[in-house]
Amino acid sequence: MRINLVGFGVIGKGFAKTLIMKRDWLKARYGFEPSVVSISDITGTLVNPDGIDLSATLETVNRTGRIIDCPGATVMQSLDAIRGVDAELMVEVTPTNVKTGEPGLSHMLAAMDVGKHVVTSNKGPLALAYKKLRATAEKKGVQFKFESSAGGAMPLINLANEVLSGDEIISIKGILNGTTNFILTKMTKEGTDFETTLKEAQELGIAETDPSYDISGSDTASKLVILTNAILGREATYSDVSVQGITKITPEAIALAKEEGFVIKLIGEVEDGSLSVAPKLVPENHPLNVDGTLNVASFTTDLAGDVTIVGRGAGAIETNSAILSDILSIYRSGAGR
Ligand code: HSE
Repeated sequence: MRINLVGFGVIGKGFAKTLIMKRDWLKARYGFEPSVVSISDITGTLVNPDGIDLSATLETVNRTGRIIDCPGATVMQSLDAIRGVDAELMVEVTPTNVKTGEPGLSHMLAAMDVGKHVVTSNKGPLALAYKKLRATAEKKGVQFKFESSAGGAMPLINLANEVLSGDEIISIKGILNGTTNFILTKMTKEGTDFETTLKEAQELGIAETDPSYDISGSDTASKLVILTNAILGREATYSDVSVQGITKITPEAIALAKEEGFVIKLIGEVEDGSLSVAPKLVPENHPLNVDGTLNVASFTTDLAGDVTIVGRGAGAIETNSAILSDILSIYRSGAGR
Protein backbone atom coordinates (compact mmCIF):
# COMPACT_ATOMS: atom_id res chain seq x y z
CA MET A 1 0.00 0.00 0.00
CA ARG A 2 1.31 3.43 -0.98
CA ILE A 3 0.60 6.35 1.36
CA ASN A 4 0.54 10.13 0.95
CA LEU A 5 1.39 11.58 4.37
CA VAL A 6 0.07 15.12 4.79
CA GLY A 7 1.26 16.94 7.92
CA PHE A 8 4.63 16.33 9.55
CA GLY A 9 4.25 17.74 13.06
CA VAL A 10 3.99 15.73 16.28
CA ILE A 11 1.55 13.15 14.85
CA GLY A 12 3.08 12.96 11.36
CA LYS A 13 6.55 12.39 12.75
CA GLY A 14 5.03 9.89 15.19
CA PHE A 15 3.55 8.07 12.18
CA ALA A 16 6.98 7.81 10.55
CA LYS A 17 8.51 6.57 13.82
CA THR A 18 5.72 4.01 14.26
CA LEU A 19 6.24 2.61 10.76
CA ILE A 20 9.99 2.33 11.37
CA MET A 21 9.42 0.67 14.76
CA LYS A 22 6.80 -1.79 13.47
CA ARG A 23 8.16 -2.50 9.96
CA ASP A 24 9.32 -6.09 10.54
CA TRP A 25 6.38 -6.94 12.80
CA LEU A 26 3.78 -5.68 10.29
CA LYS A 27 5.38 -7.75 7.55
CA ALA A 28 5.64 -10.90 9.69
CA ARG A 29 2.15 -10.61 11.19
CA TYR A 30 0.06 -9.37 8.26
CA GLY A 31 2.34 -9.44 5.22
CA PHE A 32 1.79 -5.67 5.25
CA GLU A 33 4.50 -3.48 3.72
CA PRO A 34 3.30 0.13 3.63
CA SER A 35 5.35 2.60 1.66
CA VAL A 36 5.17 6.37 2.24
CA VAL A 37 5.53 7.89 -1.23
CA SER A 38 5.04 11.56 -0.35
CA ILE A 39 5.31 13.72 2.75
CA SER A 40 3.93 17.25 2.68
CA ASP A 41 4.06 20.04 5.21
CA ILE A 42 3.39 23.73 4.83
CA THR A 43 6.86 24.28 3.28
CA GLY A 44 6.69 21.69 0.49
CA THR A 45 6.66 18.01 -0.44
CA LEU A 46 9.15 15.18 -0.56
CA VAL A 47 8.31 12.48 -3.13
CA ASN A 48 9.73 9.05 -3.77
CA PRO A 49 7.56 6.54 -5.68
CA ASP A 50 9.74 3.71 -4.31
CA GLY A 51 9.19 4.75 -0.69
CA ILE A 52 10.72 7.61 1.28
CA ASP A 53 13.61 6.94 3.67
CA LEU A 54 11.70 7.79 6.87
CA SER A 55 14.73 7.77 9.20
CA ALA A 56 16.66 10.25 7.06
CA THR A 57 13.57 12.48 6.75
CA LEU A 58 12.99 12.46 10.50
CA GLU A 59 16.65 13.28 11.06
CA THR A 60 16.45 16.35 8.80
CA VAL A 61 13.07 17.61 10.01
CA ASN A 62 14.00 17.14 13.67
CA ARG A 63 16.96 19.42 12.95
CA THR A 64 15.36 22.10 10.74
CA GLY A 65 11.61 21.70 11.33
CA ARG A 66 10.83 21.78 7.58
CA ILE A 67 10.22 19.18 4.85
CA ILE A 68 11.64 21.57 2.25
CA ASP A 69 15.11 21.08 3.78
CA CYS A 70 15.12 17.35 2.92
CA PRO A 71 17.28 16.49 -0.11
CA GLY A 72 15.04 16.31 -3.20
CA ALA A 73 12.05 18.12 -1.64
CA THR A 74 10.23 20.71 -3.76
CA VAL A 75 7.76 23.50 -3.09
CA MET A 76 4.95 21.25 -4.36
CA GLN A 77 1.83 22.04 -2.29
CA SER A 78 0.00 19.40 -0.32
CA LEU A 79 -3.09 19.50 -2.60
CA ASP A 80 -0.91 18.90 -5.67
CA ALA A 81 0.78 15.99 -3.91
CA ILE A 82 -2.60 14.49 -2.98
CA ARG A 83 -3.87 14.80 -6.54
CA GLY A 84 -0.64 14.06 -8.37
CA VAL A 85 1.43 11.50 -6.44
CA ASP A 86 0.06 7.99 -7.00
CA ALA A 87 -1.04 6.26 -3.77
CA GLU A 88 -3.92 4.22 -2.42
CA LEU A 89 -4.37 6.04 0.89
CA MET A 90 -3.80 9.44 2.47
CA VAL A 91 -2.96 9.98 6.13
CA GLU A 92 -4.07 13.53 7.05
CA VAL A 93 -2.52 14.89 10.25
CA THR A 94 -2.21 18.64 9.77
CA PRO A 95 -3.02 20.97 12.73
CA THR A 96 -6.71 21.06 13.50
CA ASN A 97 -8.91 24.11 13.02
CA VAL A 98 -12.45 24.03 14.40
CA LYS A 99 -13.47 27.33 12.80
CA THR A 100 -12.83 26.49 9.14
CA GLY A 101 -11.69 22.86 9.18
CA GLU A 102 -8.84 23.88 6.89
CA PRO A 103 -6.48 22.82 5.48
CA GLY A 104 -7.58 19.33 6.49
CA LEU A 105 -11.07 19.50 4.98
CA SER A 106 -9.80 20.35 1.49
CA HIS A 107 -7.10 17.69 1.77
CA MET A 108 -9.65 15.00 2.65
CA LEU A 109 -12.14 15.97 -0.07
CA ALA A 110 -9.35 16.12 -2.67
CA ALA A 111 -8.03 12.68 -1.70
CA MET A 112 -11.50 11.12 -1.84
CA ASP A 113 -12.14 12.82 -5.16
CA VAL A 114 -9.17 11.03 -6.75
CA GLY A 115 -10.23 7.69 -5.20
CA LYS A 116 -7.91 7.52 -2.20
CA HIS A 117 -8.87 6.08 1.17
CA VAL A 118 -8.53 8.59 4.00
CA VAL A 119 -7.27 8.03 7.55
CA THR A 120 -7.10 11.04 9.83
CA SER A 121 -6.70 12.25 13.39
CA ASN A 122 -7.79 15.77 12.41
CA LYS A 123 -10.80 16.79 14.50
CA GLY A 124 -11.83 20.12 12.94
CA PRO A 125 -13.06 18.84 9.55
CA LEU A 126 -14.97 16.01 11.25
CA ALA A 127 -16.65 18.31 13.76
CA LEU A 128 -17.69 20.76 11.03
CA ALA A 129 -18.38 18.73 7.91
CA TYR A 130 -18.86 15.07 8.82
CA LYS A 131 -21.95 14.69 6.65
CA LYS A 132 -20.18 16.03 3.56
CA LEU A 133 -17.07 13.91 4.17
CA ARG A 134 -19.08 10.72 4.73
CA ALA A 135 -21.22 11.39 1.64
CA THR A 136 -18.15 12.07 -0.51
CA ALA A 137 -16.42 8.90 0.69
CA GLU A 138 -19.53 6.86 -0.15
CA LYS A 139 -19.93 8.50 -3.55
CA LYS A 140 -16.31 7.88 -4.45
CA GLY A 141 -16.26 4.34 -3.02
CA VAL A 142 -13.39 4.95 -0.62
CA GLN A 143 -12.99 4.17 3.07
CA PHE A 144 -12.86 7.01 5.59
CA LYS A 145 -11.53 6.27 9.07
CA PHE A 146 -10.79 8.48 12.04
CA GLU A 147 -10.50 6.35 15.19
CA SER A 148 -7.57 8.45 16.45
CA SER A 149 -9.50 11.74 16.27
CA ALA A 150 -11.51 11.20 19.46
CA GLY A 151 -9.84 9.58 22.43
CA GLY A 152 -6.42 9.05 20.77
CA ALA A 153 -5.34 5.47 21.40
CA MET A 154 -8.66 4.44 22.97
CA PRO A 155 -10.55 2.30 20.42
CA LEU A 156 -13.91 3.96 21.07
CA ILE A 157 -15.46 3.93 17.61
CA ASN A 158 -14.38 0.35 16.92
CA LEU A 159 -15.49 -0.75 20.38
CA ALA A 160 -18.97 0.69 19.91
CA ASN A 161 -19.51 -0.13 16.23
CA GLU A 162 -17.74 -3.48 15.97
CA VAL A 163 -17.38 -5.15 19.36
CA LEU A 164 -20.70 -3.85 20.76
CA SER A 165 -22.48 -3.97 17.40
CA GLY A 166 -25.46 -5.84 18.91
CA ASP A 167 -25.99 -3.15 21.52
CA GLU A 168 -27.80 0.12 21.22
CA ILE A 169 -25.57 2.84 22.64
CA ILE A 170 -27.85 5.08 24.67
CA SER A 171 -25.42 7.69 25.95
CA ILE A 172 -21.72 8.55 25.89
CA LYS A 173 -19.94 10.38 28.67
CA GLY A 174 -16.30 11.00 29.44
CA ILE A 175 -13.10 12.96 29.77
CA LEU A 176 -11.91 13.50 26.22
CA ASN A 177 -9.11 16.01 26.77
CA GLY A 178 -5.79 15.15 28.40
CA THR A 179 -4.58 18.73 28.84
CA THR A 180 -7.51 19.84 30.98
CA ASN A 181 -7.47 16.59 32.95
CA PHE A 182 -3.78 17.10 33.66
CA ILE A 183 -4.41 20.69 34.79
CA LEU A 184 -7.37 19.79 37.04
CA THR A 185 -5.52 16.79 38.53
CA LYS A 186 -2.45 18.88 39.38
CA MET A 187 -4.57 21.67 40.83
CA THR A 188 -6.41 19.09 42.97
CA LYS A 189 -3.44 17.02 44.14
CA GLU A 190 -0.65 19.58 44.33
CA GLY A 191 -2.55 22.84 44.64
CA THR A 192 -0.63 24.32 41.68
CA ASP A 193 -2.09 27.29 39.84
CA PHE A 194 -3.74 27.23 36.43
CA GLU A 195 -1.09 29.06 34.37
CA THR A 196 1.90 27.05 35.67
CA THR A 197 0.11 23.76 35.05
CA LEU A 198 -0.93 24.75 31.53
CA LYS A 199 2.73 25.46 30.72
CA GLU A 200 3.65 21.96 31.95
CA ALA A 201 0.96 20.41 29.73
CA GLN A 202 2.40 22.30 26.76
CA GLU A 203 5.88 21.00 27.59
CA LEU A 204 4.50 17.44 27.61
CA GLY A 205 3.40 18.00 23.99
CA ILE A 206 -0.26 17.13 24.63
CA ALA A 207 -1.79 20.63 24.46
CA GLU A 208 -3.06 21.84 21.08
CA THR A 209 -0.86 24.21 19.04
CA ASP A 210 -3.31 26.83 20.32
CA PRO A 211 -4.05 25.65 23.91
CA SER A 212 -7.18 27.79 24.13
CA TYR A 213 -8.87 24.93 22.19
CA ASP A 214 -8.17 22.70 25.20
CA ILE A 215 -9.09 24.93 28.10
CA SER A 216 -12.18 26.48 26.50
CA GLY A 217 -13.70 23.00 26.10
CA SER A 218 -13.63 23.30 22.33
CA ASP A 219 -11.37 20.26 21.83
CA THR A 220 -13.67 18.12 23.98
CA ALA A 221 -16.68 19.43 22.03
CA SER A 222 -15.12 18.44 18.68
CA LYS A 223 -14.45 14.93 19.95
CA LEU A 224 -17.96 14.63 21.35
CA VAL A 225 -19.41 15.56 17.94
CA ILE A 226 -17.19 12.95 16.26
CA LEU A 227 -18.30 10.19 18.67
CA THR A 228 -21.96 11.22 18.44
CA ASN A 229 -21.94 11.04 14.65
CA ALA A 230 -19.81 7.93 14.27
CA ILE A 231 -21.45 5.92 17.06
CA LEU A 232 -25.00 7.25 17.41
CA GLY A 233 -25.42 7.81 13.66
CA ARG A 234 -26.28 11.48 14.04
CA GLU A 235 -25.31 14.44 11.89
CA ALA A 236 -24.31 16.83 14.67
CA THR A 237 -21.87 19.67 14.17
CA TYR A 238 -19.80 21.73 16.54
CA SER A 239 -22.51 24.40 16.86
CA ASP A 240 -24.89 21.83 18.42
CA VAL A 241 -22.75 21.57 21.57
CA SER A 242 -23.24 23.67 24.68
CA VAL A 243 -19.63 24.34 25.72
CA GLN A 244 -18.11 25.54 28.96
CA GLY A 245 -14.38 25.26 29.68
CA ILE A 246 -12.25 25.18 32.81
CA THR A 247 -10.90 28.73 32.93
CA LYS A 248 -13.25 29.73 35.73
CA ILE A 249 -12.36 26.80 38.02
CA THR A 250 -10.66 28.21 41.11
CA PRO A 251 -8.45 26.38 43.64
CA GLU A 252 -11.17 27.22 46.19
CA ALA A 253 -13.86 25.40 44.18
CA ILE A 254 -11.56 22.36 43.87
CA ALA A 255 -10.86 22.36 47.63
CA LEU A 256 -14.56 22.63 48.43
CA ALA A 257 -15.41 19.71 46.14
CA LYS A 258 -12.64 17.65 47.74
CA GLU A 259 -14.04 18.24 51.23
CA GLU A 260 -17.33 16.70 50.03
CA GLY A 261 -15.62 13.68 48.40
CA PHE A 262 -15.77 14.94 44.81
CA VAL A 263 -13.32 15.95 42.11
CA ILE A 264 -14.01 18.46 39.32
CA LYS A 265 -13.60 17.04 35.80
CA LEU A 266 -14.32 18.46 32.34
CA ILE A 267 -17.00 16.09 31.08
CA GLY A 268 -18.31 15.74 27.54
CA GLU A 269 -21.69 14.07 27.35
CA VAL A 270 -24.37 13.17 24.83
CA GLU A 271 -27.65 12.12 26.34
CA ASP A 272 -31.24 12.31 25.06
CA GLY A 273 -29.99 13.98 21.90
CA SER A 274 -28.26 16.89 23.64
CA LEU A 275 -24.53 17.46 23.57
CA SER A 276 -22.72 19.30 26.37
CA VAL A 277 -19.23 19.99 27.66
CA ALA A 278 -18.90 21.38 31.17
CA PRO A 279 -16.95 20.98 34.41
CA LYS A 280 -18.84 18.50 36.60
CA LEU A 281 -18.54 17.10 40.10
CA VAL A 282 -17.48 13.44 39.95
CA PRO A 283 -17.45 11.25 43.10
CA GLU A 284 -13.89 10.30 44.03
CA ASN A 285 -14.55 6.57 43.67
CA HIS A 286 -16.37 6.86 40.30
CA PRO A 287 -14.91 5.15 37.16
CA LEU A 288 -14.77 8.55 35.42
CA ASN A 289 -12.29 9.79 38.02
CA VAL A 290 -9.05 9.11 36.14
CA ASP A 291 -5.94 11.16 36.74
CA GLY A 292 -3.31 13.09 34.85
CA THR A 293 -3.33 13.06 31.07
CA LEU A 294 -5.59 9.98 30.87
CA ASN A 295 -8.90 10.02 29.02
CA VAL A 296 -11.95 7.92 29.85
CA ALA A 297 -15.24 7.23 28.11
CA SER A 298 -18.30 5.40 29.32
CA PHE A 299 -21.03 4.02 27.05
CA THR A 300 -24.45 3.23 28.47
CA THR A 301 -25.87 0.39 26.40
CA ASP A 302 -29.13 -1.58 26.34
CA LEU A 303 -27.60 -5.06 26.73
CA ALA A 304 -24.13 -4.69 28.24
CA GLY A 305 -25.03 -1.94 30.72
CA ASP A 306 -22.18 0.52 31.25
CA VAL A 307 -18.91 -0.12 29.43
CA THR A 308 -16.00 2.12 30.42
CA ILE A 309 -12.63 2.42 28.75
CA VAL A 310 -9.59 4.30 30.03
CA GLY A 311 -6.53 5.16 27.97
CA ARG A 312 -4.19 7.64 26.43
CA GLY A 313 -6.04 10.30 24.48
CA ALA A 314 -2.95 12.05 23.16
CA GLY A 315 0.70 11.51 22.32
CA ALA A 316 2.70 10.98 19.13
CA ILE A 317 3.01 7.20 19.34
CA GLU A 318 -0.27 6.51 21.18
CA THR A 319 -2.34 8.38 18.59
CA ASN A 320 -0.60 6.37 15.89
CA SER A 321 -1.83 3.14 17.49
CA ALA A 322 -5.30 4.13 16.26
CA ILE A 323 -4.06 5.49 12.92
CA LEU A 324 -2.27 2.21 12.24
CA SER A 325 -5.32 0.16 13.24
CA ASP A 326 -7.45 2.15 10.75
CA ILE A 327 -4.90 1.57 7.99
CA LEU A 328 -4.70 -2.14 8.82
CA SER A 329 -8.47 -2.41 8.80
CA ILE A 330 -8.53 -0.97 5.25
CA TYR A 331 -5.68 -3.24 4.16
CA ARG A 332 -7.20 -6.34 5.72
CA SER A 333 -10.58 -5.61 4.08
CA GLY A 334 -8.76 -6.12 0.79
CA ALA A 335 -8.98 -2.45 -0.20
CA GLY A 336 -5.93 -0.33 -0.91
CA ARG A 337 -3.68 -3.18 -2.03
N1 HSE B 1 -4.91 18.52 23.07
C1 HSE B 1 -5.52 17.23 23.04
C2 HSE B 1 -5.66 16.75 24.49
C3 HSE B 1 -4.71 16.31 22.21
O1 HSE B 1 -5.11 17.38 25.39
O2 HSE B 1 -6.32 15.75 24.73
C4 HSE B 1 -5.41 15.09 21.72
O3 HSE B 1 -6.53 15.37 20.93
